[in-house]
Amino acid sequence: MPQSPIWNALLAHVDAHKGITMGDLFAADSGRFSRFSIPLPGMLLDYSKNKITEQTMGLLFELAHDRQIEAKRDAMFRGDPINSTENRAALHVALRGASETDFFVDGTNVSEDISAQLNRLQIFTEAIHSGTRTGVTGKKFTDVVAIGIGGSHLGPELAVQALRNPLTDPTRVHFISNVDGHDILQNLMELNAENTLVVIASKTFTTKETMTNAATAKAWICHVMGDDAVAKHFVALSANAEAVEEFGISTDHMFPMWDWVGGRYSLWSSIGLPIALAVGWDKFNQLLAGAQKMDEHFKSAPISDNMPIMMALIGVWNINFLGSDCLVILPYDQRLKRLPAFLQQLDMESNGKGVLHSGDVPEFATGPIVFGEAGTNGQHAFYQLLHQGSHTIPADFIAIATPGHGLRDHHDQVLANAIAQSQALMLGQTLEQSDGNSHRACPGNTPSNTLILEQLNAFNLGQLIALYEHKVFVQGAIWGINSFDQWGVELGKEIAGGLLGSIQNSAYPEQADSSTQGLLQTLYEWRKN
Ligand code: F6P
Repeated sequence: MPQSPIWNALLAHVDAHKGITMGDLFAADSGRFSRFSIPLPGMLLDYSKNKITEQTMGLLFELAHDRQIEAKRDAMFRGDPINSTENRAALHVALRGASETDFFVDGTNVSEDISAQLNRLQIFTEAIHSGTRTGVTGKKFTDVVAIGIGGSHLGPELAVQALRNPLTDPTRVHFISNVDGHDILQNLMELNAENTLVVIASKTFTTKETMTNAATAKAWICHVMGDDAVAKHFVALSANAEAVEEFGISTDHMFPMWDWVGGRYSLWSSIGLPIALAVGWDKFNQLLAGAQKMDEHFKSAPISDNMPIMMALIGVWNINFLGSDCLVILPYDQRLKRLPAFLQQLDMESNGKGVLHSGDVPEFATGPIVFGEAGTNGQHAFYQLLHQGSHTIPADFIAIATPGHGLRDHHDQVLANAIAQSQALMLGQTLEQSDGNSHRACPGNTPSNTLILEQLNAFNLGQLIALYEHKVFVQGAIWGINSFDQWGVELGKEIAGGLLGSIQNSAYPEQADSSTQGLLQTLYEWRKN
């Protein structure tokens, strides 16, 4: 691909435009915002603060055509086995609730099955909320412990943080993901087993962290209420019925998911049950509807007005042609404080790849290093580097026009900061403007996108998440990588599996390097005490 004419044209275009700043581009064109923004109902993307011109965009659109983005998108929606290394579909878009079109996997219509499972989830959620389904001692469930990790945790946690209103949504959900015992102990310590429902979320039902936490939660429930309590207090969300039964949960208390749903794309499936339990079925349904709306936009809008494709192209421009390695996610809303972590997995596990579909090694950079923090907290942590450091880090700002509270002064400050920061990153401050003090000067010219949502409701959150899912997909399609596998995480898991045996017996693995031996020796000595 680097040798392709359009890739070379983009490289030549960068060279020809060196030295032009975004400040110059804004000064020369009062219509820049309207030219480089995409409005959708309740949502706006401003990408004008990027180092782009009409010519840049024309070339990027050609790149999208050259890489057959629309055909690849259609293949995903058609249920083609686009996850090439695992030979399966990536059909999370089928899960966004009732749709006019049916979805097919290997020639089988999966839409009916999806509706039936959604129906079961709704009945279960409503039974928990109404109190018709109680714990073994007849007490209503007030608390849910949701055990899962990665894709079986981050999406649900993000949505619960963003959408739950403690005044109107009484069921509390406590997420436990880390295998570190401090995580589960801190959570269980504050709970009453009689009122607690445990939801084990794991597509494979073999993930070490999740199964270890699940076993500890089971021991706790059984210790307090006896072994029979498991039937009433545990449900499983999984694609592995056999392992669920082996764990001791009947498949009557299991909500399935499908192998054609990737972990980090699974919050729309039964993995989203903790969301429904926390915020109610209507809001969960709205979340799905918002995602479906974004799917429709992604499928039908022309490339130049297509929000996910636009964000993907801008990202490729920044990464491959302007040399940025990172992307910082800056949600100016405390309710979205887990968005950076969610997007970190979505983007880095999907596109953090050093191999193409073909098996060849790409001669260009792929997915960015993603990090972030809610504004304004990040401003007092890493923004110094964004403004004056030696790396140019493109940013995605996300702001919400109307808050979920009545503290007007707080929200005005949040919005002022969000807009000010994107302006400061773009314009910077010259030496002259800094009174000749080079320590105060900021180079500026740092690219950013700003997304504004009218409000943070379930529908808009669904749109926002699906927007990023499709953005990541389009980037993977441009680079020619499989965004739906994650083989890179296996090596560490395998080594940890082997080391566990050594650590349990205070032994040393054969043929380990001196660092591993030395670290183990230190641990063993200190554990003696
Ligand atoms: O981190 C690797 C991974 O396989 C993710 O892709 C997945 O979301 C997570 O582990 C959890 O997997 P499971 O849902 O099977 O427990």
